[in-house]
Amino acid sequence: MIRCAVFGASGGIGAALVRQLAARDDVGVVFAGSRRGAVPVGPTIRPFRFDALDDAALAQVVGAIGAPLDLVIVATGALTRADGSGPEKALRQVSAAALGELFAANAIVPAMIARAVQGSLPRDRRCVFAALSARVGSIGDNRLGGWHAYRASKAALNMLCRTIAIEWARSHPQAVVAALHPGTVQTALSAPFQRGVAPDRLFTPDVSAKALLDVIDRLTPADSGGFFAWDGSTIPF
Ligand SMILES: NC(=O)c1ccc[n+]([C@@H]2O[C@H](COP(=O)([O-])OP(=O)(O)OC[C@H]3O[C@@H](n4cnc5c(N)ncnc54)[C@H](OP(=O)(O)O)[C@@H]3O)[C@@H](O)[C@H]2O)c1
Repeated sequence: MIRCAVFGASGGIGAALVRQLAARDDVGVVFAGSRRGAVPVGPTIRPFRFDALDDAALAQVVGAIGAPLDLVIVATGALTRADGSGPEKALRQVSAAALGELFAANAIVPAMIARAVQGSLPRDRRCVFAALSARVGSIGDNRLGGWHAYRASKAALNMLCRTIAIEWARSHPQAVVAALHPGTVQTALSAPFQRGVAPDRLFTPDVSAKALLDVIDRLTPADSGGFFAWDGSTIPF
C-alpha cells in the first residue's frame, strides 16, 4: 500500500487526482493539501493546510504527514493573478508584480515542496515527484508568444524539476521526477480560455487525472527529469 500526497488538492485537477488515488486498491492513504480551498473527503483522505512559502510551517506539515511518501503530486499553479488580471498579450502588459506572483505559484511553491518532502521519499524503492506544468512552458514549442509570466514560470518549473532529478538520481536512485502537462482541462484556471478548444481536446478533470496517473504509473527512473504530456508523449523543453 503506497502513501501519497497531493498539494493543490482544492484545484480542479488536484481534487480529481485525490479522488482517483483514494479509490485505488494499492493506495493506503492520500494526504490532500490546500493553501485555503476545500479538498475532497473520504475514508483514506487526510486533509491538510500548507503555506509553501513559510519554510518552518511547511517542514512541520510534512513532518506531521510522515514518511514514506511514495507519490507526491504538486497540482498548484496559477495562470491569472489573484486580482483576476492577466495573462499578458504583449510585453507592455508585463509587470514585476505579475512575474513575481506567477513565479511564486508555478515555480517557487513546487520547488519548496520538493525540498520539504525529499527526506520523506524512500531511497530503496521507486517513488515519484510530479509537478503539473503546462505545454506553453516549453521554450522550444513557443510559436505564439504571449502569456509571458505563465510561460516563463512554467519553464522555470521544468528546469527545477530537471535539476532536482539530477540531484535525486544520486540520493534516491529509483526516484522519478516529472513535469506533466495535463491537457486543456475544464477548471477555474482555464475557464476564460476554453473558447476555440475542440471539444475532444477539452478534458474533464477526471479524464485528465486518469491520464496523468496512467503516465505516472508508466514512468521509470530512466525518465526522471522529463516533461511529459497527458498521453505520455515527451514535450521539448
Ligand atoms: N486547466 C488547464 O487547462 C491546465 C492546462 C495546463 C496546465 N495546467 C496546470 O495544472 C495545474 C492545476 O490547474 P487547475 O486547472 O486544476 O487549476 P485550479 O482549479 O485553478 O487550481 C489551482 C490550485 O492551485 C492552488 N494554488 C494557486 N496558487 C497557489 C499558491 N501560491 N500556493 C499554493 N497553492 C496555490 C489553488 O489553491 P487554493 O484553492 O488554496 O487557492 C488550487 O488548489 C496548474 O499548475 C496549471 O498551471 C492546467
